[in-house]
Amino acid sequence: MSSKQLIAGNWKMNGSLAANASLLEALKQGVGTPACDVAVCVPAPYLAQVQTLVAGSPLTLGAQDISVHAHGAYTGEQSGAMLKEFGVRYAIVGHSERRQYHGESDDIVAAKTAAALASAITPIVCVGETLAQREAGQTEEVVKRQLAAVIHVNGHCISEIVVAYEPVWAIGTGKTATPAQAQAVHAVLRAQLHHAASEHAAGIRILYGGSMNAANAAELLSQPDIDGGLIGGASLKAPDFLQIIAAAR
Ligand code: 13P
Repeated sequence: MSSKQLIAGNWKMNGSLAANASLLEALKQGVGTPACDVAVCVPAPYLAQVQTLVAGSPLTLGAQDISVHAHGAYTGEQSGAMLKEFGVRYAIVGHSERRQYHGESDDIVAAKTAAALASAITPIVCVGETLAQREAGQTEEVVKRQLAAVIHVNGHCISEIVVAYEPVWAIGTGKTATPAQAQAVHAVLRAQLHHAASEHAAGIRILYGGSMNAANAAELLSQPDIDGGLIGGASLKAPDFLQIIAAAR
């Protein structure tokens, strides 16, 4: 267990200049001095806007993806150095929506993790099983395979990553994993990290994501191996996101 939990909002492909400004205004007004770390992972076109708006507040900035390449002919991509110029502290890598819709393999996710670390950006590495995989009893095998690829490529540097367990069947569905279901998978991931990074494993934050909301956050966040949350829908509503932040330690 890490000392401070991390609550990260994943805005996905939502927002506008006006909506971002009012959401961040409400968050800054309500956040006070949070016990946890807080980040908002915003669409790339809004990095400059949000960098300015979060300056001097407890809110930090994250991206939703990162290129494996440093520069060059890679149309549509953003390098770690570019993200860094906008004050990006975190980059989500391997979100299930990118694995599913953009064909991101375990190897690509591992390479993106390395690219983030090379730019001193903390990767939030997502793992998680589909409903079919859970029902087939493959949950452990799937998340361990996904994390193993990242460990294999990044070695002892994995002490610098954040892991997010996001069961695909819980994302955007309103079906949250029960605290016990989530804790069971987090314990598996913790043991795997322990094997790879021994004494550092306890300090690697493992976030839960998937329909976390103002009502269920406190119970999820009180599990011993849940070190924060990666929040989609509820991060777009200031009162809900603030309640989740207040539930974290
Ligand atoms: P929801 O909170 O909308 O289920 O999304 C979770 C998620 O995918 C965060 O990355």
